[in-house]
Amino acid sequence: MNIFILLITLIITVKCISAQSTINEECFVVNELLQKNQTYNCCQEEGVTCSNDGHITKINISGKTHSVSIPPEIGNLINLKYLYFGKSKINGSIPPELGNLSNLEYLCLAHNKLSDSIPPELGNLINLEYLNFRDNRLSGSIPPELAKLSKLKTLDLSSNNLTGSIPPELAKIPKLNTLQLSINNLSGFVPKEIQKSNIKLYIANNPLLETKSTNIKLIIIICLVIPCVLFIALSTFYVYLKNKRRNSNNENDESSNMSSTVSSQQYKTNNNNNNEICSDIVIKPNN
Ligand SMILES: *[C@@H]1O[C@H](CO)[C@@H](O)[C@H](O)[C@H]1NC(C)=O
Ligand SMILES: *[C@@H]1O[C@H](CO)[C@@H](O)[C@H](O)[C@H]1NC(C)=O
Ligand SMILES: *[C@@H]1O[C@H](CO)[C@@H](O)[C@H](O)[C@H]1NC(C)=O
Ligand SMILES: *[C@@H]1O[C@H](CO)[C@@H](O)[C@H](O)[C@H]1NC(C)=O
Ligand SMILES: *[C@@H]1O[C@H](CO)[C@@H](O)[C@H](O)[C@H]1NC(C)=O
Ligand SMILES: *[C@@H]1O[C@H](CO)[C@@H](O)[C@H](O)[C@H]1NC(C)=O
Repeated sequence: MNIFILLITLIITVKCISAQSTINEECFVVNELLQKNQTYNCCQEEGVTCSNDGHITKINISGKTHSVSIPPEIGNLINLKYLYFGKSKINGSIPPELGNLSNLEYLCLAHNKLSDSIPPELGNLINLEYLNFRDNRLSGSIPPELAKLSKLKTLDLSSNNLTGSIPPELAKIPKLNTLQLSINNLSGFVPKEIQKSNIKLYIANNPLLETKSTNIKLIIIICLVIPCVLFIALSTFYVYLKNKRRNSNNENDESSNMSSTVSSQQYKTNNNNNNEICSDIVIKPNN
C-alpha cells in the first residue's frame, strides 16, 4: 500500500519535473530576449501566454527587449501563433529557423535593428496572415518564396534597405490586401501582375524603381516636347525666310534708285553693310 502511494507520488513528481523542464526549454528564447535568468518561468511574464500544457502560444514583448539577437531556438516554439517584438532594439539577422513555426499567424518585428537578408524559409509559414518587418536594416532582395504564404493579408517591408526587383509571384497571394514596400532601394519595373491586382501597393521612396505611370509621364512629356520643338524650329525658319526676302527687296529698291553707271565697287560697300549670308543673292539681280 505504502509502496503504491510512493509510486504515484514518484510518477507525479517526474511528470511535474518534465513539464517544468519543457516550460523552461521553451522559455529559453524569451528569457534570452528579456535577459532574464534561465530558471525564470516566462509564462508568468506579462505579454507571454502559455497553454495549459505549458507551451508558449503568444509572445508580445514589444519594447521590453534589449540589444540582443533572436536565438535560432525560436524555431522550437512550434505552438506559437503570435509573435510581436516591435519597437525593441533587437539586432542581428532573422533566424531561418523562424520558418519552422508552422502555426504562426502574426509576425511583427517592426522598429528594430535587424540586418542581413529575409530568409526564404519564411515562405513555410503557411498559416501566417500578418508579416511586418518595417523600419529595420534588412538588405538583399525580397524572397519570391514569400508568395507561398497563401493566408497572408498584410506584408510590410518598408523602411529597410532592400534591393533587387519586386517578385511578380506576390500577386498570386490570394488574400493579400496591403503590400507596403516604401523607403527601400528596390529597382526594376513594378510587375504588371501586381499593378493589375487589387493589392494596395505602396512604393514611395525607391529611387531606382520604375512604374508604368512614369512611362506614361515620359510619353506625355515626349508628346508635348516634340511638337513644341517643331513649332519653334518652323517659326524660326519662317522668320528667317521672311527676313531674307525683305533684305533682298530692300537691296532691289536701293539699287533701282541708284544710277545705272554705279560701279561694282559701290555694290561691294553696300554688301558689306548687309548680312554676310545674303551677299551672293543681292548682287545677282542687278547684273
Ligand atoms: C538563476 O537563479 C537561481 C535562483 O534564483 C540561482 O540559483 C542561479 O544562480 C541563477 N543563475 C544565473 C545564471 O544567474
Ligand atoms: C501587446 O502589448 C502591448 C503592451 O505591452 C499592448 O498595448 C498591445 O495591445 C498588445 N497586443 C496584443 C495583440 O496583445
Ligand atoms: C547587438 O548589439 C549589441 C549591443 O550593442 C552588440 O554587443 C552585439 O554585437 C550586436 N549584435 C549584432 C549581431 O550586431
Ligand atoms: C528548422 O529550420 C532549420 C533551418 O531552416 C532546418 O534546418 C531544420 O531542419 C528545421 N527543424 C525542424 C524540426 O523542422
Ligand atoms: C544599403 O545596402 C547597400 C549595399 O547593398 C549599401 O551600399 C548601403 O550603404 C546600404 N544603405 C544603408 C542606408 O544602409
Ligand atoms: C542602393 O543600392 C545600390 C547598389 O545596389 C547602392 O550602391 C546604393 O548605395 C544604395 N542606396 C542606398 C540609399 O542605400
